[in-house]
Amino acid sequence: MSEPTIEALLAEGRTFPPSEEFRESSLVTDVDVYDEAERDWQGFWARQAQQLDWFEEWETVLEWDLPDAKWFSGGRINASYNCLDRHVIAGHGDQVAFHWEGEAGDTRTITYADLLDEVSRLANGLKSMGIGKGDRVAVYMGMVPELAVTLLACARIGAPHSVVFGGFTADSLRDRINDAEAKVLVTADGACRRGGTIALKEIADQALADCPSIEHVVMVRRTGQDVAFVEGRDVWYHDLVPQQSADCPPEPMDSEDLLYILYTSGTTGKPKGIMHTTGGYLTQCAWTHKYVFDLRPDTDVFWCTADIGWVTGHSYIVYGPLANRTTSVMYEGTPDYPDKDRFWRLIERYGVTILYTAPTAIRTFMKWGDEYPDRCDLSSLRLLGSVGEPINPEAWVWYWRHIGGERCPVVDTWWQTETGAIMISPLPGATTLKPGSATYPLPGIGADIVDEAGVPVGIPGGGYLVLTRPWPSMLRGIWGDPERYFKTYWNTYKGRYFAGDGAKRDEEGYYWLLGRVDDVMLVSGHNISTAEVEHALVGHHAVAEAAVVGKTDKVTGQAIAAFVILRAGNEPSEEFAKELRDHVAKNIGPIARPQSILFTDDLPKTRSGKIMRRLLRDVSEDHELGDTTTLADPGVVAGIKAKYLRDHPADEE
Ligand code: WT7
Repeated sequence: MSEPTIEALLAEGRTFPPSEEFRESSLVTDVDVYDEAERDWQGFWARQAQQLDWFEEWETVLEWDLPDAKWFSGGRINASYNCLDRHVIAGHGDQVAFHWEGEAGDTRTITYADLLDEVSRLANGLKSMGIGKGDRVAVYMGMVPELAVTLLACARIGAPHSVVFGGFTADSLRDRINDAEAKVLVTADGACRRGGTIALKEIADQALADCPSIEHVVMVRRTGQDVAFVEGRDVWYHDLVPQQSADCPPEPMDSEDLLYILYTSGTTGKPKGIMHTTGGYLTQCAWTHKYVFDLRPDTDVFWCTADIGWVTGHSYIVYGPLANRTTSVMYEGTPDYPDKDRFWRLIERYGVTILYTAPTAIRTFMKWGDEYPDRCDLSSLRLLGSVGEPINPEAWVWYWRHIGGERCPVVDTWWQTETGAIMISPLPGATTLKPGSATYPLPGIGADIVDEAGVPVGIPGGGYLVLTRPWPSMLRGIWGDPERYFKTYWNTYKGRYFAGDGAKRDEEGYYWLLGRVDDVMLVSGHNISTAEVEHALVGHHAVAEAAVVGKTDKVTGQAIAAFVILRAGNEPSEEFAKELRDHVAKNIGPIARPQSILFTDDLPKTRSGKIMRRLLRDVSEDHELGDTTTLADPGVVAGIKAKYLRDHPADEE
């Protein structure tokens, strides 16, 4: 293979300026755009908002009364109109919006005209069930085209959607439906997963036993499996949708009307319903999608491998790409079905030019071996993206070499459910890349790094990442909990948004993200709070107390390490550990299954009784124990550590 080796390349500190070839056709090739945006950042965003179609122009660009932002106030706009109608009106109805592929290899080609037709019919179907502006619609399904259709149908009539990832359990679904008081649930009989099926409707029915707000359930037939059918409440998608009129005028929404709620983990067990509104969100989704991915709508084939159940799918499968008239690939299944080359086969088949995936996936591909990408034709690719967690330089270079053929820039994009769209990222035609760095805040974005006291640390320096000014796609709050919104994000460092991430800047001002500093773990790019897993563990009858930390893991970024105190009368055992791990998976979802469980008699606590997870992290990472002076009983950690090392001899290497 190519020389030098990845190790040598990293050791020499190589940087990656955009190639002449890439620059020739790039949308942005110099850094003037940063200065332009800096001179008048509100004006900059206003110019980007003008790229959308508004029914009525806004009166003010920004009203900012911390922590409440209003972007493009008074403006009237509809997200579904911007994603569909305007392209069809402009003569692009026949352009493919989605090349969809099912896990079994079945395919559907959906044009913009097709999508507009089906979205309008479903929108009318929802209306016929009494859903209108402001009513919340819960969505729980796999990666089928109807999922994207549902989001857009909701947006069309002004009914905020609340998508619950199809891998979540009945309890998680129930809690989210109840928190948002959704009136309708759109789901499917089942979902296809690794050759088998997941019984979505059965899980939904369990949840719905305790969801008084739900009046109707719309069910897509996907797997054909048997399902219970509640007369008067349930309706098949294929009975509801085709009979509706394909004419559904888009609701002119206020720029600040709620587009959706999406739940994300917080530091307490209760998930936060992150609220996104319409005009600003769509502006930043569209702008970032166009410029970070250097998009050419007439020729590019874009593939974001995320699930629409996460924010990445909302912003970069649905809203951003469609607003920009992109042709996208949408894939239902896993990357190893039927074989570990499935992603590369998809790229080959559809001629994907831009691939956007996650470091955890990239590390998995590295583990599987080079032969899988090597046996496929990946020459259509011209740009690669990464999102979800810090990408380690080894994975970056492997991605660049084995997937990008050393010709595609890799854009590492930092953002959050809360930020709605990409915030820190290269512009691939203008930015010199450094493997592992998300480089700089995008034009118009204000970021900084501060110390514990909120004082900027300067360059170079490390500390906590903050955002220094409002941005169009920022969250507008936490559903039903304005106080938590203020406290979580705006109260730590006065006047600034606290992202919860550690970061440092090098001599050249490049940002290097360092992971979460709070008690949120990032497992395979998914946010899981320590508290959530601890709640699940102590929900087991035999568990007295539990503490959970994220431990560095080569593949998943972080893995969950649990420390458990059993109630008297229960003996620790392998089987018991397995039972507890399964218990958590059943309660929260397989993604939250702890990798290891250590039974202990004590947990390190401060005198005020707070578990010192920092010390447990040190134990699970086998670091020198940090400062133990505030510990009530310093002997406890040493005991746990001895035990942990006995159980995990491999970690000592
Ligand atoms: C957290 C947000 C953004 C969609 C997927 C996750 C981490 C995300 C990066 C990146 C370093 C990253 C952060 C952030 N993160 N992208 N490129 N480099 N860290 O959304 O579930 O809201 O998680 O993911 O820790 O705070 P999320």
